[in-house]
Amino acid sequence: MVLIAPSILSADFSCLKEEVVALSQAGADLIHLDIMDGHFVPNLTFGPTVVKSIRDCTKLPFDVHLMVENPQDMISWFAKAGADIITIHAESTKHLDKLLAEIKSYGIKAGVSLNPSTPETVLEYVLDKIDVVLVMSVNPGFGGQSFISSSVEKIAKIKSMIKGKDIKIEVDGGINPLTAAECVAAGADILVAGSAILNSGDYKKNIEALR
Ligand code: DX5
Ligand code: ZN
Repeated sequence: MVLIAPSILSADFSCLKEEVVALSQAGADLIHLDIMDGHFVPNLTFGPTVVKSIRDCTKLPFDVHLMVENPQDMISWFAKAGADIITIHAESTKHLDKLLAEIKSYGIKAGVSLNPSTPETVLEYVLDKIDVVLVMSVNPGFGGQSFISSSVEKIAKIKSMIKGKDIKIEVDGGINPLTAAECVAAGADILVAGSAILNSGDYKKNIEALR
């Protein structure tokens, strides 16, 4: 069964708590939190104080996607703010193995995200340390971009790499009911969606349409 992770990047930030409650009631499986620092990506979002402030309004796991330079400075902040999964970008560190071990030391799940141009081979020697691979199907930084179709092939390659291992494949960017179907057919387990769920209509219907 596919899991749906709405990205609150497309939420109304003037009432974030209500938005998270509404997404939980609409059938979300995880809440996806996009952390952007204005350096790794050309956009800024929010930090651990905001994550902590909405932690108690849902029981759903918090899926924290760090799009930041120097992730080593911030892992502890988000672990303490209530993250259940922390995903770092392979491109953001020279010490992927070490940082994955640090995430796991907080007793939470660790993920690696790959930009569209990054080959899946970077995962080869850290497969024993990861719970999630987050395939970016847009260049990270903004919601509402078009799906990059080569992501489907990358998902299929990762699916065969992780055979027999308890690792989930998550896909993020440009997900709508059409692209969702392609990604799931290739092996995706978790679909992140911002605009397809939050930009118009009813959250519950939008989540069901993706599922
Ligand atoms: C993009 C973020 C995504 C974004 C997806 O950099 O990582 O999580 O919110 O938005 P949509 O679903 O609109 O492409
Ligand atoms: Zn994301």
